[in-house]
Amino acid sequence: MLLRRLRRLVLAATILACPGLSGTVPGTVAPEPEETPPARHRGMPGLENVHDLGHGILCGGGPQGDAGFAALEAMGVRTLLSVDGMEPDLERARGHGMRYVHVPIGYDSVGTNALRRLAKAVSTLPGPFYIHCHHGRHRGPAAAAAVARSLHRWTAPQASAWLLLAGTDPRYGGLHRDATNAQPFPHDEIARIADPLPERTPVEPLVRVMVAVDQEFEALRSQRGNAFGPPTEAEAATATRLSELFREAARLDGSGTAGVELRHGLKEAAEEASRLAAQLLAARDPSVTENTFRRLTESCVRCHRRHRDLPAAP
Ligand code: HEC
Repeated sequence: MLLRRLRRLVLAATILACPGLSGTVPGTVAPEPEETPPARHRGMPGLENVHDLGHGILCGGGPQGDAGFAALEAMGVRTLLSVDGMEPDLERARGHGMRYVHVPIGYDSVGTNALRRLAKAVSTLPGPFYIHCHHGRHRGPAAAAAVARSLHRWTAPQASAWLLLAGTDPRYGGLHRDATNAQPFPHDEIARIADPLPERTPVEPLVRVMVAVDQEFEALRSQRGNAFGPPTEAEAATATRLSELFREAARLDGSGTAGVELRHGLKEAAEEASRLAAQLLAARDPSVTENTFRRLTESCVRCHRRHRDLPAAP
């Protein structure tokens, strides 16, 4: 008897420490959503920016390697919802007893179609759920807020407060708009959502190339550290791969003025990356190389502001 009480106490303490899991144990009273602001989980190996939103919903960056998936498994997560353009690592997820639903979104909106799928997944598949984008700062938090608004009566101020906590950049007006404007889904409507919940969803060719660009750019940034030191062939090779990816992107179809402008920007970025590769190989004055690197970084931001981040029509 005493032992059972003790066990129950331990269980209750674990649940309190992990509010997202509170819905899974019968007999415990789930706290009201507005009483439990999202809680940050620090020091998770292979995961960044992990937050527990309550209602069995966690949100954060994409799991890195086995460590990331193991950390999610240890938290009891059963279903992963990726809104990132990167192909999810289905093998690793399965290896850790979890399944994926892949609903890629852009930086311009969450969108009604994506929200329907996410809401259906959270209503019909086993939780707890881990909603992730790449770094867990912009698209994932916006999607998670929209789900919490749709299914768990989160208010618009709750959604805004959460985006502020997650560090979602105000620049992504479409993400903020869709996170705060999402309307509650009536239960009978969810049952009628016929959209499939694929483990992997093909993305537009430009998104596929950009995912690769991002990986190479992250590699280059970590090779560089705080500043380029004595040049290495590895750095030059990464810059060359970046340049090739931009050239590949510039060959993709794209019509209208926006298409022409985009191609022009991609060609410029390709040239900047080639220049960087050449300077790295020639062991030029480090300040020249740093300048080229800065211009390349600026080219990502400049083009995204114009062609990626503006809110899409609701
Ligand atoms: C000339 C334009 C241009 C340049 C330069 C550019 N991008 Fe992009 N990028 C885009 C566009 C457009 C999209 C959105 C594609 C879509 O959603 O259809 C995008 C999307 C992305 C995405 C999102 C992929 C996803 O998961 O949906 C990442 C990450 C990215 N770019 C990284 C980079 C990085 C890093 C650089 C610089 C090293 C860069 N981009 C340079 C135009 C550009």
